[in-house]
Amino acid sequence: PTVFLNGEFLPHDQARVSVMDRGFLFGDGVYEVIPAYGGHLFRLQPHLQRLDNSLQAVRIPNPYTEPQWQGILEELVGENAGTDQSVYLQVTRGVMERRDHAFPADLKPTVFAMSNPIPEPDPALAEHGITAISLDDIRWQSCHIKAITLLPNVLLRQQAVEAGAAEAILLRDGEATEGAASNLFIVRDGLLITPPKGPLLLPGITRDLVIELAARHGIPYREGAISEAELRGADEVWLTSSTKEIMPVTTLDGVPVGDGRPGPLYRQMHGIYREYKQ
Ligand code: PDD
Repeated sequence: PTVFLNGEFLPHDQARVSVMDRGFLFGDGVYEVIPAYGGHLFRLQPHLQRLDNSLQAVRIPNPYTEPQWQGILEELVGENAGTDQSVYLQVTRGVMERRDHAFPADLKPTVFAMSNPIPEPDPALAEHGITAISLDDIRWQSCHIKAITLLPNVLLRQQAVEAGAAEAILLRDGEATEGAASNLFIVRDGLLITPPKGPLLLPGITRDLVIELAARHGIPYREGAISEAELRGADEVWLTSSTKEIMPVTTLDGVPVGDGRPGPLYRQMHGIYREYKQ
């Protein structure tokens, strides 16, 4: 497959990045993951806005304007427009001359992007849901930045997978914040609840869309903290992300969520979401 690297489109096995790139040596960079359905980049503008926010937060200049980003990503997606895809893009601070934690002001960011097919949604997911485990959030205090430095997320997700679960739900100071690579919703007495945005979670584009769709369809929702007890006592638990959409969690730490099946509000929102995607 073709990838984009520093202004060029080229076969992925010919793309080369320096070993002195700060992304390689420090994880010094940010990224985005954007789905494309039927060749169309889904919710592109909010993804590019979040990219710009991440870049500003870590003081890397944004190498492209929104129309330039759009042109690059559309060209990548156009290669396989027939299948649903997820576009990965990352911007690192660039290549340094010698290893130094502090960064010089004049580096040229390294820009990389690729597009890969998204697997067909598994019908068993909507039917049976997924298993999750809860884990202590071992990440830093700036989880709103979509940084490529993902070692804690990698270790958390791996621990979940080794426990036979699809995702880890993270707990910090008695509150459930989000998943290792997804945002969290619960349903209690018909009310949809998701934690408010802040430095301890990623402002998910799918999260915002679910809230927008809830508002549009008269589904009551609230942005508010979710305590560990509320998580465990919830009627429904959902996780959202750009690549997995909405996933109903039906087992948490070995205990059924609600009656152990995807709930009625999940089924309603899943239908609304699928319709919106078309
Ligand atoms: N992850 N929270 C975290 C920590 C994430 O890494 C992600 C997405 C989300 C969901 O955000 P969005 O709805 O904008 O995809 C929440 C991407 C998909 C990834 O790392 O592959």
